[in-house]
Amino acid sequence: MWIGVVTLFPEMFGAVRDAGVVGRAVRTGVLGLELYNPRDHATDRHRTVDDRPYGGGPGMVMQVEPLLAAIAAAQAGWQGVAAAAGLPDGPAPVIYLTPQGKTLTQRRARALADLPAAILLAGRYEGVDERVVRLAVDQELSIGDYVLSGGELPAMVVIDAVARLLPGSLGNVASALEESHLDGLLDYPHYTRPEIAGGLAVPAELLSGDHAVVRRWRRKQALGRTWQRRPELLAGREWSAEDRALLAEFLSETAGTDGAIR
Ligand code: ADE
Repeated sequence: MWIGVVTLFPEMFGAVRDAGVVGRAVRTGVLGLELYNPRDHATDRHRTVDDRPYGGGPGMVMQVEPLLAAIAAAQAGWQGVAAAAGLPDGPAPVIYLTPQGKTLTQRRARALADLPAAILLAGRYEGVDERVVRLAVDQELSIGDYVLSGGELPAMVVIDAVARLLPGSLGNVASALEESHLDGLLDYPHYTRPEIAGGLAVPAELLSGDHAVVRRWRRKQALGRTWQRRPELLAGREWSAEDRALLAEFLSETAGTDGAIR
């Protein structure tokens, strides 16, 4: 997959580009990541990219022309990559990171990871001129109901969530398949050596060496934790008889404990 990011702060993206799963995906060519700075497309001597809002009020608004030019440069970048790789051309969808967007979910991350390319638009200041949204944005995406000072961290969140889903990007592809949220459940608890730490033992099921016992225990924990911590994730769920029994077992095992999250 190819991702172009339009940002006034390209240096921030070293944080994801150079390390971890995203860094590896970039190094191995699983992910192409290019940065486009609207300031490079400003036309005045001061390389201005923002101005005061019409109607007054605090802060600055990112101007139309430098942003459209940077988005066009990103589209051209993608066209070059697509042509060189013999991929079908066509514009990459432009995704604007904003608290006004739809919330990023694992499902939306998967949908993005299925695309050949995307352009992420990271806004700064009070936002971008609405005409950019009208003219060039296909989708608005939020990473949660809180306000950050810019779209760079949200764009990095999207890049991380997407990159780890790309075929060939994880050392252990199975872990992406198995883990949290994949079928709408929270993750089960994990343990490693030693068997006793801080006076606490690893659950016996995980030491049993019996794969079926381990699988059953993990599923039970995932169901139970979801029930306790994020019950809304279970609304509308189609329950198998086995899952129902596992949850009942979890609840009876934890009955009498305070159920507190630790
Ligand atoms: N820009 C500022 N806050 C944001 C958020 N929560 N999600 C996406 N983009 C943002």
